[in-house]
Amino acid sequence: MAEQRPDPERSRLLEELDRWNLAALEGSGADAVARQHERKKLTARERVDALLDPGTFRELDRFVVHRCNDFGMDKKRIPGDGVVTGYGRIDGRLVYLFAQDFTVFGGTLSGAYARKICKIMDLALKNGAPVIGLNDSGGARIQEGVESLGGYADIFLRNTLSSGVIPQLTAILGPCAGGAVYSPALTDFTVMSRGTSFMFVTGPDVIKAVTHEEVSQERLGGASTHTQISGVAHLAAPDEAGVLATLRALLSYMPQNNQEDPPSVATQDAHDRLCPSLDELVPTNPNRPYDIKDVITTVADDGGFLEIQPEHAANIVVGFCRLGGRSIGVVANQPAVLAGVLDIDASVKAARFVRFCDAFNIPLWVIEDVPGFLPGTAQEFGGIIRHGAKLLYAFAEATVPKVTLITRKAYGGAYCVMNSKHLRADLNFAWPTAEIAVMGSDGAVNIIHRRELQDATDPAATRAELVNAYRARFANPYRAAELGFVDEVLVPRDTRARLINTFDSLQDKRDHNPPRKHGNIPL
Ligand code: HXC
Repeated sequence: MAEQRPDPERSRLLEELDRWNLAALEGSGADAVARQHERKKLTARERVDALLDPGTFRELDRFVVHRCNDFGMDKKRIPGDGVVTGYGRIDGRLVYLFAQDFTVFGGTLSGAYARKICKIMDLALKNGAPVIGLNDSGGARIQEGVESLGGYADIFLRNTLSSGVIPQLTAILGPCAGGAVYSPALTDFTVMSRGTSFMFVTGPDVIKAVTHEEVSQERLGGASTHTQISGVAHLAAPDEAGVLATLRALLSYMPQNNQEDPPSVATQDAHDRLCPSLDELVPTNPNRPYDIKDVITTVADDGGFLEIQPEHAANIVVGFCRLGGRSIGVVANQPAVLAGVLDIDASVKAARFVRFCDAFNIPLWVIEDVPGFLPGTAQEFGGIIRHGAKLLYAFAEATVPKVTLITRKAYGGAYCVMNSKHLRADLNFAWPTAEIAVMGSDGAVNIIHRRELQDATDPAATRAELVNAYRARFANPYRAAELGFVDEVLVPRDTRARLINTFDSLQDKRDHNPPRKHGNIPL
């Protein structure tokens, strides 16, 4: 048989492909990569590999280049143009992603670069899979002018149209400045790397020029600022590996899109496990604090709880746990911080979380111990009326399974707001320590017994007597239970078994809101 000779034309074609691939992988070269590593940052491709299941990444548009010929850019075209885009798998589930490559043109966004991102966002929406953005960029590519700005706006539009349809997650792993911050801000969750990332609309130099205020980049827009003060970021990690692991953990609680249920995760933790420590958890003195997270971790499968925004508005706790393998969104007042009072930040934090869970079919477990809304001019001037209404609105419009457990105080307007029966909660439980009333006993006695107290010969004794009488009438769950506003008063140790049973019974729940273009949440 004649020996088959290699076809030189085919070899040439393959060599040409190799050259293109090599040019794309080289990017700006080894020096740029070394500089990136010196800053304790990974390259875009290293990040993609660390995020995805091994070997699952499929890159798209690897050879795309910008079309700018101004300012000498015609001599600088690098395949890929500073962003790596494509799709892959996390825990076997499809995700689309883009990773900005700071080593190429500072990761800045050109028209071509924006089109790459838009392409994967469109694919993600059509295929019902989450989008993840890994951000590390100098912002709009100045040489491209308005074409770059238009590219950002094209992305913002897609962020908005995808909102509530597919989960959108963001990592900030370097600079993210100017209008570029608005894409992360439109996504569902933002995670920052400590010390190597920052976000701001205007940087320290502009601030100094305009307001004469001096502030460092880190203080202005670092991870601590955004996870503690502004609430712009939801979580932070000490390094990039931690950020990427956090994204994977977050996704594990979410469905692929709003038409699906979140994945169930098998557990060895018995569904009917008793939780005897809960019997003693709530102090009988209503003014003594305790940590609401003890309730969550004691009840949840294997004690697992992924808290969201733990350092921002810590007077309310939100996050994900599992009950009987089912993904659950938890919203809990935190008596250990500001007595668990609702203020502006807490209302906004919880409202956004509730809306995420509702959009993505994640049932809600609300744990209530709230003395009311925070009094004061700062709160009133800041619009606590408007902001508190957000939380009320979010609970009221939510149609996912909604279960409330009142552990102690449910006072005043906060009783109504915190997923009360009246807002379509499915089942409302209370522990025997619950106190459901218009206000706390001291305040109530001052108002309704003012005359008696004024006229009393021994005001302290009279007050104590009146307070006791008030507490006997209202500092319990039984008046609410008589009215059917509380469905069942639970022995605390039975809470896990009862909740799992309840969420099982609600798994096929269907509820709807009236047809409308969209509601008008008080923003
Ligand atoms: C073009 C840019 C650029 C930009 C950085 N580079 N920013 N090129 N347009 N916006 C280039 C640099 O010239 C440099 O190229 C390379 O990227 C790396 O930048 P360095 O400055 O060397 O790096 P570093 O010291 O780490 O500083 C990073 C930086 C800084 C903090 C991001 O570059 C910076 O402040 N850039 C400007 C940021 C900015 O103002 N962007 C516009 C924001 S407004 P060489 O060739 O030397 O390697 C915006 C509008 C969005 O984004 C609008 C949406 C509505």
